[in-house]
Amino acid sequence: MNIQQLIDDIAADVRPYLAQAAPADYIPALAGEDPQQFAMAVATLDGQLYATGHSDKRFSIQSISKAFMLARVLAVYGDALWQRVGKEPSGNPFNSLVQLEYEQGVPRNPFINAGALVVTDIALSQLGDSSSALRDFLREESAQPALDFDYVIAASESEHGHRNAALAHFMKSCGNLHNNVEQVLAHYFRACSLRMNVAELARAGLFLANHGASPVSGAQRLTRSQAKQVNAIMLTCGTYDAAGEFAYRVGLPCKSGVGGGILAVLPGKMSIAVWSPGLDARGNSLAGLEALDRFTTRSGESVF
Ligand code: DON
Repeated sequence: MNIQQLIDDIAADVRPYLAQAAPADYIPALAGEDPQQFAMAVATLDGQLYATGHSDKRFSIQSISKAFMLARVLAVYGDALWQRVGKEPSGNPFNSLVQLEYEQGVPRNPFINAGALVVTDIALSQLGDSSSALRDFLREESAQPALDFDYVIAASESEHGHRNAALAHFMKSCGNLHNNVEQVLAHYFRACSLRMNVAELARAGLFLANHGASPVSGAQRLTRSQAKQVNAIMLTCGTYDAAGEFAYRVGLPCKSGVGGGILAVLPGKMSIAVWSPGLDARGNSLAGLEALDRFTTRSGESVF
């Protein structure tokens, strides 16, 4: 397979989709991104990196941070995590409030916002400064020491993040947040604000493609079994109420973010990152999904 040719062709083919979607505007600092931008990168376990489009441009990884935060917390806290958060798809939007009250403040999975807030709470208890720990982890796994938060985006989300505040306060009332609500929210927003480009993101995902062992840092980040677990939750919950459509069309564990990025993992082979800021109705990158669909369909590669 000629990966460079394939992703160059895909970049050309998805161009018509760029005009059909708009960036997230509920976080005002994200609304200004030009939706005409597109980038895709593939990092392979044999050390190659292929990239196309605006692959140097860093963007806010938003909920993609949840996959890495889950990996960090699973590594240090293990299965005790599952007493605080479930591992079933929610079938609801990522910021939904309704299910949480029915289920006594225990979020369905670690990737909806409520679940990520619980994971952040555990990270604060286990790792201390959880957002800095995540930033340092991603600096190592992308071999890019300059990665950092976008404090303007974090502040913009903090100012407008009433739904996340509602979720966090409700869970606190149920006893499922142990740290101070404002502190949990601040670390969650900061982790979401991290800026990376697709090349850095694809590289950082390699430990998930390599059964927990990072070919970038040389560290065993997860056990083989834990890497399987994170990938499984990405497949079933990583794109929220579109997880069925992603599994059907892409056939890979994926984690999306409202910054327009999507990270996809092909265990044993490669990690793929795609970015285009225009989102579909369920908060996932419209051109990103189109690109990943074409990548697995044309290459014949997927977990199925
Ligand atoms: O909490 C939020 O709403 C954002 N910081 C992250 C949401 C997100 O990226 C959902 N993904 N598609």
